Amino acid sequence: EEWLAERELTDCVWILDEEHVWKSAEITKDFHSGDNVLQLLLEDGTVHLYPVDPSKPNLPPLRNPDILVGENDLTALSYLHEPAVLHNLKVRFVESRIIYTYCGIILVAVNPYKQLPIYGDAIIHAYSGQNMGDMDPHIFAVAEEAYKQMARNHKNQSIIVSGESGAGKTVSARYAMRYFAVVSKSGSDTRVEDKVLASNPITEAIGNAKTTRNDNSSRFGKYTEISFDRRYRIIGANMRTYLLEKSRVVFQAENERNYHIFYQMCSCADSAEFKTLRLLSADEFRYTSMGGDVTIEGVDDKKDMEETRRTFSLLGLKEDFQSDVFKVLAAILHLGNVEIRSSGDDRSSSNDPHLAAFCDLLSVSPSELVRWLCHRRIVLVSETVVKPVPKERAMAARDALAKQIYAHLFDCIITRINTALQVPGKQHAFIGVLDIYGFETFDINSFEQFCINYANEKLQQQFNLHVFKLEQEEYMKEDIPWTLIDFYDNQPVIDLIEAKMGILDLLDEECLFPQGTDQSWLQKLYNYLEANPLFEKPRLSNEAFVIQHFADKVEYSDPVGFLEKNRDALYEELVDTMRASTPVSDIHPRPVAFLTFMQYLKLNLYLNFQIVKILNSYTPIDDFEKRVTSSFVRKVQVHLGPGHYWKEARIRGRFIY
Ligand SMILES: Nc1ncnc2c1ncn2[C@@H]1O[C@H](COP(=O)(O)OP(=O)(O)OP(=O)(O)O)[C@@H](O)[C@H]1O
Ligand SMILES: *[C@@H]1O[C@H](CO)[C@@H](O)[C@H](O)[C@H]1NC(C)=O
Ligand SMILES: *[C@@H]1O[C@H](CO)[C@@H](O)[C@H](O)[C@H]1NC(C)=O
Ligand SMILES: [Mg+2]
Repeated sequence: EEWLAERELTDCVWILDEEHVWKSAEITKDFHSGDNVLQLLLEDGTVHLYPVDPSKPNLPPLRNPDILVGENDLTALSYLHEPAVLHNLKVRFVESRIIYTYCGIILVAVNPYKQLPIYGDAIIHAYSGQNMGDMDPHIFAVAEEAYKQMARNHKNQSIIVSGESGAGKTVSARYAMRYFAVVSKSGSDTRVEDKVLASNPITEAIGNAKTTRNDNSSRFGKYTEISFDRRYRIIGANMRTYLLEKSRVVFQAENERNYHIFYQMCSCADSAEFKTLRLLSADEFRYTSMGGDVTIEGVDDKKDMEETRRTFSLLGLKEDFQSDVFKVLAAILHLGNVEIRSSGDDRSSSNDPHLAAFCDLLSVSPSELVRWLCHRRIVLVSETVVKPVPKERAMAARDALAKQIYAHLFDCIITRINTALQVPGKQHAFIGVLDIYGFETFDINSFEQFCINYANEKLQQQFNLHVFKLEQEEYMKEDIPWTLIDFYDNQPVIDLIEAKMGILDLLDEECLFPQGTDQSWLQKLYNYLEANPLFEKPRLSNEAFVIQHFADKVEYSDPVGFLEKNRDALYEELVDTMRASTPVSDIHPRPVAFLTFMQYLKLNLYLNFQIVKILNSYTPIDDFEKRVTSSFVRKVQVHLGPGHYWKEARIRGRFIY
């Protein structure tokens, strides 16, 4: 009935298509309820009989009249659904190269994958002081809105940038930060706004890597809070990071790379100041050569190294700190090349040059290190015995150590940057920018993807709550008749993951059993969760499980092992060895209390949700117009490859309306 009434406005519908995702068709014969076919004419002139089941009519979505298409706010469309949104974005982008569109308070951006002349200082000044609705949609308009809400209405603000890998989140977050730096210059000699911006290249060097989806993919989440004084000038910033992908340090898939910083260093292997690091070229280190290609088209690692060093210095991180950082990084590369020959064989390693380099760089005793890489201590009732371990386990211990050192170094650098950006005195107000890494699916999705996608479910939930609540308030304010939209609620997926007897709970439990294996855990998942409609056991595998996420269905399997990663065992004796080493400086890896990965993750997620909490308590969810309002930037990745273009967009962009 509803469809028939709405259909008055148009003669066209969208039907699903294998190749083009959605294609347009014209209704050529009136449709009456009870009919079992809808007669359509396709754009290529062929007649299409669209089957309709009269008992539960599944009529195709209606196409907006052409006059509406190309609007700069999606909410102006008569019909707002997936094909309508995609078509509107496509028309704007393909015909006019316009990448930004509003959807109410949300900014939707299409990644153009090419420099557009729309980010200069002149454009920033054009947006400064303007109202969001009066100007073309732009990231600067969102930033201006946040700035104005803070400066005029005294509300703290958060900008959340979400979207999947490669959508352009980090680029957007940087533009937003640049906007604040330009419009709120401190005027002081210290140029604190330059320092705030300088934090980006460093975190990107140590936290970004080439993946098959993005040459500059952020492998961690980041929340930057920019602090302002009473006159709304930048006085400092603080940064929190989440969920660094540690496994990348020791493993990269085909065509992927390790963190940029390693390649930047290797490209300077010959330089005099790096001589003591005994570096080789990147294709000679195991940890940097696994993905095959050590270069990225269009990237000059050597030049990026200069940039990294320049920003280190700009932030006031001195030469000695930098040289310690490089020592630790070089040590990690050497550790990866340490050969482990056969079980319990410590003598053969004693003249391994990489082992020697690692130990020299970190002042670790080689004999102790070798001993505890290749043996373990077993405490029995009456005595303690030292037993050789299998080769695989020794290799796992080596890699666990490398990951732990890197993660520790990463945290140290972030801490130092925060110290450098510390706010002198009291911050009066802030604007937060959250760049969390987006929903991911690869050919093989392991524990890391599971964690990332879980975090994204949480973010999506926040987004739903916020947007729908806000929209409703607007309608109510203006007395517009409004029936509650039955929006997509992802609580059931979140429950599947985090509730008692859910996936994580069972994983933690299995890790506590000495005999627990991935197999036994997966069997429990199958037994307990089979009935859950969002969970599936793949038909042809006992080593994987499938979750229906808000964005897509994802199959998870982990060749390294879910339990292994969740425990993230670092062998105790190795820790002792490292602890006994002479510290190089405060960045020297001295693992103190090792958290299991899960504890670490929970801590991170906890912090992560604190942000969301921040939002919850500050945003108008319970108390409209309180403390903070948030602006959401939603990004849709569009690949410019022929044919695949909108298909990708459909798979990747899932709209909540
Ligand atoms: N506004 C833009 N103009 C031009 N190019 C862009 C823009 N946004 C993104 N790009 C291009 O797309 C690439 C990927 O963007 P970005 O690294 O910001 O993605 P991301 O969403 O942060 O992905 P990830 O989740 O993997 O970190 C950039 O390196 C840049 O080449
Ligand atoms: C990619 O990351 C590097 C950090 O190594 C950064 O300096 C550079 O600007 C980024 N490139 C793009 C295109 O964003
Ligand atoms: C904004 O945040 C600052 C610093 O955290 C806080 O002191 C201030 O009270 C907040 N402002 C408002 C209006 O809530
Ligand atoms: Mg990014």
